[in-house]
Amino acid sequence: MADRDAWASRLGFILAAIGSAVGLGNIWRFPYQTAEFGGAAFLVVYVLAVLVIGIPAILAEFVIGRRAEMSAIGAFEKLGRKEWTVIGAIGVFGGFWTLSYYSVVGGWVIRYLTGSFTGAYFGAPGEYFGAVSAGMDAIAFHALFMLLTVGIVAFGIEGGIEKATKVMVPAIVLLMVGLAFFAYTLPGSGPGYEFFLSPDFGVLADNLATVIPAAVGQALFSLSLGFSVMITYASYISDDKSLPVDGLSIAVVNSLIGILAGLVVFPLLASQTGEYGGAGPGAIFVSVPTALARLPLGELFGVVFFGIVLIAALSSSISLLEVVVSYLVDNHGVSRKPTTVGLGSVIFVLGLPSAWKTAWLGWFDGLAVNLILPLAVLLVVFFVGWVMADDAVDELRRGTSDLGTLGTVWLWALRTVVLLAVFGTLALSVFQFTGAPV
Ligand code: PHE
Repeated sequence: MADRDAWASRLGFILAAIGSAVGLGNIWRFPYQTAEFGGAAFLVVYVLAVLVIGIPAILAEFVIGRRAEMSAIGAFEKLGRKEWTVIGAIGVFGGFWTLSYYSVVGGWVIRYLTGSFTGAYFGAPGEYFGAVSAGMDAIAFHALFMLLTVGIVAFGIEGGIEKATKVMVPAIVLLMVGLAFFAYTLPGSGPGYEFFLSPDFGVLADNLATVIPAAVGQALFSLSLGFSVMITYASYISDDKSLPVDGLSIAVVNSLIGILAGLVVFPLLASQTGEYGGAGPGAIFVSVPTALARLPLGELFGVVFFGIVLIAALSSSISLLEVVVSYLVDNHGVSRKPTTVGLGSVIFVLGLPSAWKTAWLGWFDGLAVNLILPLAVLLVVFFVGWVMADDAVDELRRGTSDLGTLGTVWLWALRTVVLLAVFGTLALSVFQFTGAPV
């Protein structure tokens, strides 16, 4: 285990973690899930889930990774808890599974990027989405997205990942703020804000059993939890000041970008159709293009917008692939480049059903976000709270002088509230899970 890669700086780590967190989950998945599960009611549960489960859980993954200085699977052995390796295994499997359909949506983004140059989707955005989101087109662009992901990961941590994420976050925020302002000026956008921001607690109470698993799953997915990404990334930290500060900043930036996406999508949908839930996975791909078609220099804005979304998607997809690759490199001593290429090909094949038919994409996504993910997070929380306990608090304190009793509060939160909340979510999901769309 000589010569492991490491982040060049603390900022490099934070940016890469944000790069992983901020992605299609915020820009594509968050708005459409919000639309599907009742708007503002979903938002309320989502925000609560980030605060109560997300932040303690991201710290749990950081603590495992930094303590062990090993990626997902090796980490548990290094910590002297070999029997818990299964947590890493589930995480690695989850990342592998998720990347298969994530790449299909990434492919849509590339498709829209190329379409932006000529304004190809300006005339009929809804029909355009229908035509390019499934079938041969989608397969070709899925292949292209996978190729880009493999290319970056093959070059290793510092060379590829750190560079790509440095420009992304500020660019996304700027563009989304711009689009949000534009949406605000459109006639008829008002009800969009109401749908997104003003919760109807009566409706929420009636639908808790469906809203909770969806919103908690979204919060965990968006923070890149469960699939050992944060364990792996934290394992490359050579020196850091404070994990709690890192975790908090990542969670805040990440949620704000999701909410910003909502402030773009809902007013736009309101001014166009006044219909939210029916937009489905196409929400962002239909609403934003409709706005672009009305803007002067719409083509240019389209290229910039989808270009940035592509960078966001790639900085997340590389983290998913990185988990699997670093497991193989760390544990089996294989070399990085051929492993990356081989894995990329297998994941491409696994993604074919999702590219062929959007219903399959929904099924893959449901399995990943509502079952594998909460299961993995449940195990992480249990492990850190009850098995690693004292070591965990000690590790959280390392590099932080003034944590006070916060470490103990965190530990007890993990042991009780967080554990129960994730368990409840998983139970609700299992209960609701429906079979494959064949
Ligand atoms: N958080 C990423 C997003 O929101 C997706 C992701 C999940 C990446 C889990 C890595 C691990 O797009």
